[in-house]
This record gives sequence, structure tokens and C-alpha cells, in this order.
Amino acid sequence: MLWTTWLGLAAAILGTGKSAAADTVYRDPDTGLVFTSNFELYKSDGHGITVRIAIPDNVQSYTAFDAVIQMVIPNEVGWAGLAWGGSMTNNPLLVAWRGTSNNAVLSPRWASSHVQPQPYSGAQYTLFKTGTKTNATHTQFTALCKGCTSWTASDGSTRYLSPRGGNRLAFAYSPTRPASPNSPTSSLSIHEVVGYWQHDFSQAANANFEATVSKLVS
Ligand code: HEM
Ligand SMILES: *[C@@H]1O[C@H](CO)[C@@H](O)[C@H](O)[C@H]1NC(C)=O
Repeated sequence: MLWTTWLGLAAAILGTGKSAAADTVYRDPDTGLVFTSNFELYKSDGHGITVRIAIPDNVQSYTAFDAVIQMVIPNEVGWAGLAWGGSMTNNPLLVAWRGTSNNAVLSPRWASSHVQPQPYSGAQYTLFKTGTKTNATHTQFTALCKGCTSWTASDGSTRYLSPRGGNRLAFAYSPTRPASPNSPTSSLSIHEVVGYWQHDFSQAANANFEATVSKLVS
């Protein structure tokens, strides 16, 4: 019955196209960045994955821009996926999980069909020490991404996320840990739950983005 419950939850999220909780603005005391934050349920018992995004305030529409991604993932999660283009195929995917030293492993992927996504070199993530931590219940990471807000679609056109409004993002959840948990290219088993939401990028704008990020990466 658990199985049908989860399918029902996934269908409910897919059906509304909205997340259970709308965007909140999160001022991160660790990094000093301002994020918009969404909590995405993957189980009906209230368990969910938090996805936060921070961007520069000085970007034009229809350009590629850097973004900082912060995720808070319960330790029971095998792997958590984020689709920057809001669907599984033909957009930059991030798969994240906890390595065997309680470290966060980030794996950029791409799928051109609904099969296991392959490593993707078009997006580069730089993990920040500050804002990346684990405790008894959750693993949190914070990373700069170059290459997550623009990509080439299957028809050859270039897609851009909007720095001013909402972008449809998607997540995926698997309870099964990757086969080689310390390798970003590990094989993955399929998700049990997927869902979509509109993530507000307009309130994620940071005035001192470059200066703040350059301190965090060094
Ligand atoms: C072994 C890995 C994976 C396999 C075999 C797989 C396979 C599939 C399949 C068969 C579907 C259903 C398509 C349908 O209902 O018509 C699907 C849907 C979906 N998957 Fe995956 N998937 C994998 C990994 C991922 C990852 C890593 C992500 C995100 C980072 C992801 C995101 C999604 C989303 C958002 C959907 C909903 C339909 C869509 O947007 O295309 N998947 N996947
Ligand atoms: C564990 O870490 C997460 C992510 O940083 C945080 O949200 C949560 O409050 C922490 N829990 C405790 C008990 O400190």
C-alpha cells in the first residue's frame, strides 16, 4: 500500500504543477547569500528535499548566468536529483548523495531519453566548504554552478532560465544509494518519486554575488 501511496503523492505533485509550499526567501547565515527556497515532499509523512537558489542581481534575460545551489537532503535519501529545465530529458541534471565520509557527492548528468542519465561536462559545480555540512539527520551542500542556466535543446536551440521570474524545476528521489557512492559517475537506480515546481528566481538576486562567491570558492 505504501507503493500506491507514493504513486498517489507523485501524481498529486505532477497534477498540480505546484509545490506543497511556495517559495520562501532564505538569508543563509553561513554563506551570507540570499536564496529562494522550496521544500519538495517525496513521502506523504512530511519528508522532503529543500532546494535553494541564489543568483547575481546584474544579469540580463536570455544570457547564461552563474547560480549557487543549496540542497538539504535527509540522510535516508539514496540520491536526490534536480532538473534545471524542469523535466528529465535534454536539460542539465544534478544528482547528489552522501559519500561514505559523510561528504556530499555531486554528479552532473544529462539524459536524452528516459534511461539512466550519463555524466555531463556542460555544467561545472564547485562545492563550498561553508554551507556544506552533515549531521545525524540531514546532509546540506552549497555549490556554485557554471552551465546550469543555459543549455542546448534537442532541436539545437539555446534555452535560458529567466533571472527575473519563475522557472519550472523538477526533482527526483530514490531511496537506493548509488552503487559506487564515492564516484560521481556511479550507476544509479531509478527514482521512486518525481515532481515539479515553479522556482522564483527574481527574489534570489544578490547584489554582491561575485564578491561573495569568490570568497566562498577560495
Ligand atoms: C537510472 C536513472 C533513471 C532512469 C532509469 C529514469 C527513468 C525514467 C522513466 C522511465 C520515467 C517515466 C517517463 C514517463 O512517465 O513517461 C522518468 C521520468 C522522470 N524522470 Fe527519470 N530516470 C532516471 C533518473 C532521473 C534523474 C537523475 C532525474 C533528475 C535529476 C530524473 C527526472 C525525471 C523526471 C522529472 C521525470 C518526469 C517526466 C519527465 O520530466 O520527463 N530521472 N524517468
Ligand atoms: C541538521 O542539518 C540540517 C541542514 O543543515 C538543518 O536544517 C537541521 O536543522 C540540522 N539538525 C539539527 C538537529 O541540528
